[in-house]
Amino acid sequence: MQNSFKNVIFTGIQPSGMLTLGNYLGTMQYWRNFQNFSKCYFCIADLHVLTNCLTKKINFLKNSILDTLSWYLACGINPEKSIIFVQSDVVLHTQLYWILGCMSSFGELSRMTQFKSKLLLQPKNVNLGLLNYPVLMASDILLYQTNLVLVGEDQKQHLEFTQKIAKRFNKIYGKIFVIPKIFIPNLGKKIMGLQNPLLKMSKTNKNVNNVIFLSDSIEVALLKIKNSVTDSDTPPQIFYNPSIKPGISNLLIIASLLSKNSISVLEKKFKNYTYQQFKESVSEILKKFLIRIQKLYFFYRKNESKLYKILEKGSYIANLNSQKFFKKIRKKINI
Ligand code: TRP
Repeated sequence: MQNSFKNVIFTGIQPSGMLTLGNYLGTMQYWRNFQNFSKCYFCIADLHVLTNCLTKKINFLKNSILDTLSWYLACGINPEKSIIFVQSDVVLHTQLYWILGCMSSFGELSRMTQFKSKLLLQPKNVNLGLLNYPVLMASDILLYQTNLVLVGEDQKQHLEFTQKIAKRFNKIYGKIFVIPKIFIPNLGKKIMGLQNPLLKMSKTNKNVNNVIFLSDSIEVALLKIKNSVTDSDTPPQIFYNPSIKPGISNLLIIASLLSKNSISVLEKKFKNYTYQQFKESVSEILKKFLIRIQKLYFFYRKNESKLYKILEKGSYIANLNSQKFFKKIRKKINI
């Protein structure tokens, strides 16, 4: 199963809840294409979810891991070609995390945007794990000599931190870590909320009508499109310009990415449509996509013993590969 390509690709998602159309269009849709040319690690980052458990018990992880894995498979990740594994199954992630943590300053971690906003919004829930969140991410990535990381726009700062910490280590102890590049697709990073097209479509959004979940029933998803905020231009005008027409532009991007038609082709097609007709067309495209991907999801999700086998095999390989490299790290720091 292992290919001998030079490129090593890493990505992961927290199994913390439901995946959104934004996750899919912003990063997951591209994952499958990398598998034929690179050694790919697809991680299910369960330890990162524990950053939410200062005040409450988390008891959904096992199911969430299987859900997330099934979505990976539905997106075309092939366990024969790629390494799919659960973060906590490879203990060296946390071992490297400690080492890198000792090389990260409190100041730089406390200045990270995601940390600052958590501190501002929910100061009572802020634990050390949240502060160190980017250090664990850096460990995930650097442990496999990754040269390309696939993420959505929201993870960009964490990736820049990873690059910084790898360079710092190399400078002090001698070159060992590969400095990973970041792949963030251009259009997909702009998927916005349906009720508030000025804010990103995010699973943590309080208003579920902003967000299309991959697991939404078709009726619910289509209702969200129908009720999405556009504008009141009369006559209606359908063209792409996110600054003056954020709602329409957002629907155009969604339709474009899902139908694989360029925005300009769609602009021509929808030129004389009313907003209602336009939304009906977008709904049609979305419906086709959701039916296809949900069918695949349920197909994989119902065979739990197969899912466990995939994870077992993935963690075996991830453990093997990381152990080899970790020996070299230990040597560098003389432990
Ligand atoms: N923080 C990422 C998210 O919330 C998940 C993640 C954990 C990750 N480790 C990673 C992503 C390493 C890319 C690389 O989606």
